[in-house]
Amino acid sequence: MAEIVVVSDQQSAGELSAQIMVDLIERTPDAVLGLATGSTPLALYRALAARVADIGLDVSRVRGFALDEYVGLPEGHPESYRSVITREVVEPLGLTPALIHVPNGSLDGIEHAGPDYEEALTAAGGVDVQVLGIGTDGHIGFNEPGSSFASATRVKTLTEQTRRDNARFFASEADVPMHCITQGLGTILRARHLLLLAFGEGKADAVAGAVEGPVSASNPGSAIQLHPHATVIVDEAAASRLQNLAYYRYAYANKPAWQTL
Ligand code: F6R
Repeated sequence: MAEIVVVSDQQSAGELSAQIMVDLIERTPDAVLGLATGSTPLALYRALAARVADIGLDVSRVRGFALDEYVGLPEGHPESYRSVITREVVEPLGLTPALIHVPNGSLDGIEHAGPDYEEALTAAGGVDVQVLGIGTDGHIGFNEPGSSFASATRVKTLTEQTRRDNARFFASEADVPMHCITQGLGTILRARHLLLLAFGEGKADAVAGAVEGPVSASNPGSAIQLHPHATVIVDEAAASRLQNLAYYRYAYANKPAWQTL
């Protein structure tokens, strides 16, 4: 079972997850971080940037792999995940740009972009901590409902719901790309630690499905139930449809002191 931690707000979630990253980087200065984009991980990236500056943590050798990228956006588009990762993660933390990878969403060479990315991930030794958000339709990465649990990085078609959800980043829904390239569920499951964050009522059904729903390709987030080390940090609203919420609170409150997240 994933470990469920319910926090009061996004800032606390950010600080708690930033601590996981700091511990990892202190242990492993060339750690491989799996980076999600979207609104959810911003609290983590902000808290981590503040901690890195406060304690003077050396992050120059930290490596990173983004989860996904839109296909066909012009290079340098402000909403391409390459731009978002640079703006929200690489620059504020002071990471080394050459060590940060994002799937290549350019149309030129798109046929081999997935296998190329898998090769780069394998060469790096895999992801230490994979940050995940979750879509209202249950997607993780851009693995929409129906994605195989064995899937590798590949091109997918975004659902209408996801394009609607992401229209807030673009001038209109029609401007949201139809296709993306995303790490597969099989790729995500190979990370050594999954850290899924979710906030707000709009994510409550997706969180309940991922944590407690049947394990099914119809519900991609439920893949986390197959992972031996998954941590889910949610606010009260996102936790509100979990059936076993009382037990998760009780287990966290009584967590043995020697166990870390
Ligand atoms: C982003 C990603 C997506 C988002 C999800 C939630 O790299 O892979 O799975 O995590 O769409 O998006 P937000 O956080 O904007 O609600």
